[in-house]
Amino acid sequence: MRRYHVTTFGCQMNAHDSERIKGLLEDLGLGEARSQEEADVLVFNTCTIREKPDQRFAAHLGQAAALKQRDPEKVIAVGGCYAEAQRERLFSLYPAVDVAFGPGSIAHLGEWLGAGGHGIARGAFGTGDERRFSAVLPLHRERRFQAWVQISMGCNSKCAYCIVPAVRGREVSRRPGDVVAEVSRLAAEGVREVTLLGQNVNSWGRDLLPDVRTDFGELLRAVDAIDGIERIRFTSPHPKDFREPVIRAMAECSAVCEHTHLPAQSGSTRVLKRMRRTYSRERYLALVERLRDAIPELALTTDLIVGFPGETEDDFEQTVSLVQEVGFDGAYTFVYSPRSGTEAAAMADQASEDVKRERVERLIDVVQGVARARNAARVGGVEEVLVEGPSRTDPSLLRGRTRRNTTVNFAGSATPGETVPVRVEGATSTTLRGTQLAAVAA
Ligand code: 5AD
Ligand code: SF4
Repeated sequence: MRRYHVTTFGCQMNAHDSERIKGLLEDLGLGEARSQEEADVLVFNTCTIREKPDQRFAAHLGQAAALKQRDPEKVIAVGGCYAEAQRERLFSLYPAVDVAFGPGSIAHLGEWLGAGGHGIARGAFGTGDERRFSAVLPLHRERRFQAWVQISMGCNSKCAYCIVPAVRGREVSRRPGDVVAEVSRLAAEGVREVTLLGQNVNSWGRDLLPDVRTDFGELLRAVDAIDGIERIRFTSPHPKDFREPVIRAMAECSAVCEHTHLPAQSGSTRVLKRMRRTYSRERYLALVERLRDAIPELALTTDLIVGFPGETEDDFEQTVSLVQEVGFDGAYTFVYSPRSGTEAAAMADQASEDVKRERVERLIDVVQGVARARNAARVGGVEEVLVEGPSRTDPSLLRGRTRRNTTVNFAGSATPGETVPVRVEGATSTTLRGTQLAAVAA
């Protein structure tokens, strides 16, 4: 049997696309290899959000090309966002690549690889208007009790720093009936937790007008009503589109978890404007207040960029103070990375690497301090934990996640997929530690 190996870079959307890529390859009759060395078909599902993933991919491809030199029968396929962004140049940049495909054309991978996955010479892409939901493809699920569900593809925002709209195209929503059918199927297979995925989940449904009049709040309610689904998560909402009906649905649906990842990007209204985020610091703070009024236990995490072109020391200080004022439970901090073709890459006042580095270090300190204090405040309480497996650091402990999305390492005897009460006994900035409580008799 021929074997495949998939290497994935980037976000959850990409990780989910990789589940489809694997499902499709298995449908072609290939089995999964444990390593690139053992594989006949090497797939790279790439990301290009910042320069770093580009560089990591280049290093990986160097190794793959060396493997192919020893064994010319190997097929190298490159998909995802970097492949799409470099579609004109990919084959000349990387002569070892046989097949290339963008995020919207995973379905074509099957045609290009053919039965048995032998690969055709230099097959690539397809025209841009052929984008299809990969949700129609077979699925190789990595986790038994948790699943990703794609609700939309593409993005209509124009954030000045971001390459995503250029590589994933305009927003297209999946029909509500299709989403509900997929979640129902997953629930029947034993899935307890779903994460709804979209570039901007809060604008979901708008493009379905006039056929279907709906919004993300309605979708949350529909998924909440499906038997067996205990936890619903979603990522990511854009603050500009977070409306009352969604907040009400979050508050009223018992399965919707008390956590929102709400990318702020900056705490300075001036920078937000240059980023084309279309909200101010004040509007972001007002949204946080509305969310917390409706959902008192809500955990908030965010994405922050430092060193956006023209960011002054004062602008940066406002990002620091936003972290303190909101009290984020966690934040991903990014150094601004110019992406060719984006509006910001052409801006004149790019910050120096030294300034960016120094600012991100200061920001990380503050983020960690705030998150540590937020987690420390949970010590002594009891959290509902969905068990995922053994602890990564200490195999005598179990690992799971709270509804607020914090990882907990705990002493206990539960099996993966179970939801158990855990007494929290310790905290770091990113994890909790605790002990499972005996089940309370009903
Ligand atoms: N440079 C740095 N960070 C970026 N992000 C998106 N584009 C860039 C860029 N050019 C960050 C944003 C986004 C997250 C997924 O990546 O914070 O929310
Ligand atoms: Fe995900 Fe964006 Fe990276 Fe594409 S470029 S994989 S959408 S993070």
